[in-house]
Amino acid sequence: MSKIGIIGAMDLEVNALKEAMQLETKITRANMDFYEGTLNGANVVIVRCGIGKVNAALCTQILADCFCVTHIINTGVAGSLNAKLDIGDIVISRDAIHHDVDVTIFGYALGEVPQIGVREFTADKAMAELALETCRRVNPDIHAMMGRVVSGDQFISSSEVKDHLIRTFAGDCAEMEGASIAHGAYLNHIPFVIIRAISDKADNSAEMDYPTFEAAAADHSAALVKELVAHLA
Ligand code: ADE
Repeated sequence: MSKIGIIGAMDLEVNALKEAMQLETKITRANMDFYEGTLNGANVVIVRCGIGKVNAALCTQILADCFCVTHIINTGVAGSLNAKLDIGDIVISRDAIHHDVDVTIFGYALGEVPQIGVREFTADKAMAELALETCRRVNPDIHAMMGRVVSGDQFISSSEVKDHLIRTFAGDCAEMEGASIAHGAYLNHIPFVIIRAISDKADNSAEMDYPTFEAAAADHSAALVKELVAHLA
């Protein structure tokens, strides 16, 4: 039977899902509260991991070890790196890259994790396709596309850094957890997908746009996750 781990970095990314679930147990590990129960008929564990890649990686490992989840969904917001992605639109991961991993001095590609030979962590194709299909059916007014998530321990808020992420990684959106969740899921052989709604353009306007649009964007992503789990169960 499937059990779906749902990770958001911030309260506003998981609160709506927690409110909609039927809670069975709550367990705390590594200062993170894991809410286990059912959501829309699916067995789920919902958790706010905190911001950044270390929190996200720890959380993924706990979902694997303590809850034996069969699938992982990361829900949240991101900055757009693609001119076709406007605020409020949704990106569903095709793959995810750590944009801040640099061992190029020893011949690795920028973003490649040494020794495991992976630069792009590929999302589960069936989960990603189901997410896109579900989004188009449930939210026909929201533009959604499959794309590349690039992650690092930085809030991207300058056109120069944004251009670098586009040129070097062909990223579609930037955030701070997805690649770590993807990396953890890969090491534990757990299928995953990242769903991110755009809260800003990751450029010089991001500082202003992010606080204005983060809540609405987070809701778009969470609403999709709620529908998606019913079809994954
Ligand atoms: N999350 C939302 N917007 C972001 C940005 N511009 N950079 C990193 N993470 C984000």
